Amino acid sequence: MPVDSDSLTAFRKQVTSARSLDAPLWEASRHLVHSTDWPATRTALAEAIHASSLADDGLKQTLVAALPLDLATEDRTSAAMLLKQLTGLPVTKALRALCVFFKVGRPATAKWPLPAVTPDTLDRFIQTHHNPFDVLVEQLPASVLDLGAGDLSFAEELATLYEPPLTAQHRPLVLHCLDRLDPSSQLGGPLHAPPLRLNRLRSKPGLEFRFYGDQDMFALDSLERDQRLAARYLIVTCWAPATPTFAYEPTRLSARCLAEELRRTKGDSRQIRHGKEPALEVNHAGRSLLFPAWKFDIRGPLSLLELMAGRGALCVLGAVDSQVCWEILSQLIDDPRVRPTDVVLSAETLPEIFGETYRQLSALPVGGSCLLSDLTPLRKSFPSVLRTSSGQPAPYRFRQVKIQRGALFEGLPASSTARRFQGMSEETPPWLLTLVPEPVSIS
Ligand SMILES: C[S@@+](CC[C@H](N)C(=O)[O-])C[C@H]1O[C@@H](n2cnc3c(N)ncnc32)[C@H](O)[C@@H]1O
Repeated sequence: MPVDSDSLTAFRKQVTSARSLDAPLWEASRHLVHSTDWPATRTALAEAIHASSLADDGLKQTLVAALPLDLATEDRTSAAMLLKQLTGLPVTKALRALCVFFKVGRPATAKWPLPAVTPDTLDRFIQTHHNPFDVLVEQLPASVLDLGAGDLSFAEELATLYEPPLTAQHRPLVLHCLDRLDPSSQLGGPLHAPPLRLNRLRSKPGLEFRFYGDQDMFALDSLERDQRLAARYLIVTCWAPATPTFAYEPTRLSARCLAEELRRTKGDSRQIRHGKEPALEVNHAGRSLLFPAWKFDIRGPLSLLELMAGRGALCVLGAVDSQVCWEILSQLIDDPRVRPTDVVLSAETLPEIFGETYRQLSALPVGGSCLLSDLTPLRKSFPSVLRTSSGQPAPYRFRQVKIQRGALFEGLPASSTARRFQGMSEETPPWLLTLVPEPVSIS
């Protein structure tokens, strides 16, 4: 059946605008076009097209015919031209856009509801509230993902503060936590979640609590596929982001520069066996220290920012130490001169690299706050450094970045590391960063 050219033009426009209007579903649609999920998506999409209110039957039939049976074979190539004609987009983006337009969501979106709040609303919220977590009582769903959750003291403080007001509103607090530390490891000491705290959290009636130990935050595919995690949370948070993991950006610093810097600041290290498990032995200041084997895996802020922006409507980084904070800021600022190649950020190099922004932020008193965009323009688009399940990076940026100085803030839940900063007189005060991510519209 032929397709009317006017209805095709109108359809193309609608598909493009549906994509930018429903950012959460666009984000979630990445999973729908994963080769293992595609057969189920294809069936749901064909049904949704048939059942839709599109007036042009020819267009409906052409759309269904354009859906490739298999995304991995040449069927994909033959579908490419037709999909391009119908949507103006390359294959994967075309299929994702059709999923968004026909509202095909994978089952995970049913199990854990997705936030629908817009970046604009969150931007206004963080500018008028000193506590970003208060958004949980204003927006749906009240869901939080805590990355690198350590001993779960932040999780417990969050639950203690927000479960009662949410229970009064007859809605649960969804709180999912994960940490790479294996709960059965002899290493990691105080970062382990104590069994009593875990039991308390698991038995709170108004709390949908999950904890995944031995879980790398950069390997979430299977947790998501099994719906043990939501595709997106109202808040993704990370307290005291691990160092050196996030203290150096590997797209800026070469492997050689990183190895030299680690040797200079931490000491010589080597992989060994500690009883039955692998471990990293570090000789620091004449002492031999043992850590989990992955302790010196350097991922850098770009990975963390992309992970958080993809999974949270709002991103909160608490108790960020100065070194990690400046390395994060060097990615958030538009001016590429704050990202020099192979220059380690330090007390000596920071003033020259960041100039006036360094002076203004250093002068911020504990308890003070500012918007980064008031000091310097924010970066307009971020390069993707993560492998996504669909193989297609989702371009993003931060619409707003709020900076607060200090470890503890009145009324805000805090982690045990944040509380420990109080006693560290030789440490400079840490930072709290609240970021509102938004997709960069793709034309
Ligand atoms: C400095 S501790 C902070 C713990 C806790 N958030 C706090 O503030 O007390 C960093 C935590 O991140 C965890 N971690 C490091 N790399 C990780 C990764 N790739 N995935 C998940 N957790 C990770 C560590 O095991 C550790 O518990």
